[in-house]
Amino acid sequence: QYQGIIFDLDGVICHTDAYHYLAWKKLADHLGIYFDKQINNRLRGISRMESLDIILENSKNVYTDAEKYEFAKEKNEYYRQLLMQMSPVDLSADVKNTLDVLRKIGCKLAIGSSSKNAKYILERIGLGYYFDAVVDGNEIQHSKPDPEVFLLAAQRLGLVPSTCLVVEDAEAGIDAAVRGGFDAAGLGDARVYSLAKYQLIQFDELVGIVSRKQ
Ligand code: G6P
Ligand code: MG
Repeated sequence: QYQGIIFDLDGVICHTDAYHYLAWKKLADHLGIYFDKQINNRLRGISRMESLDIILENSKNVYTDAEKYEFAKEKNEYYRQLLMQMSPVDLSADVKNTLDVLRKIGCKLAIGSSSKNAKYILERIGLGYYFDAVVDGNEIQHSKPDPEVFLLAAQRLGLVPSTCLVVEDAEAGIDAAVRGGFDAAGLGDARVYSLAKYQLIQFDELVGIVSRKQ
């Protein structure tokens, strides 16, 4: 079976992807820039500044780096206001039970997220001390589709990539996993992505996948 499982956070462990959308939408409205859910899907898994550049593709204006920094800060303030309202209620029973079972059958569990807010989110939903390793956007130079975040997570678990499974809702995340030598399971948007070895409709299907692997 897989010895380690590395989970993306936003859109996999909890639905903060919806909050990212709301916060970017508020910034885009403020700047008078068109933004919709389809554009939002392109932001999954990639860093805050790279996300901003994608949003600004729809702007007629050219902004300085200092202005862009302010916009990213503004978005993060909206986002943090939404995160503040999160509590353990925002961790679904399905996800929590599955994590517990995976741990019980001997898997090491890690988070590999591009977000600089990952540790705060884990605290809010009651998983502050849960994972064997947490690697987030503060520790990496290159965000997904670069494999850095997952490679570092596997290293912290003391495992090689071929023995770990990555769980992702973003195409960029699946690409990162494959480039790093990991098998990947796709959830949500990434479920239909051809590079995902497994397609998850429900989170608890992970237990079967993990135990079936030779
Ligand atoms: C995750 C999300 C992205 C987000 C990135 C950075 O990967 O899927 O949509 O842009 O984290 O998040 P942050 O919390 O650092 O702004
Ligand atoms: Mg995600």
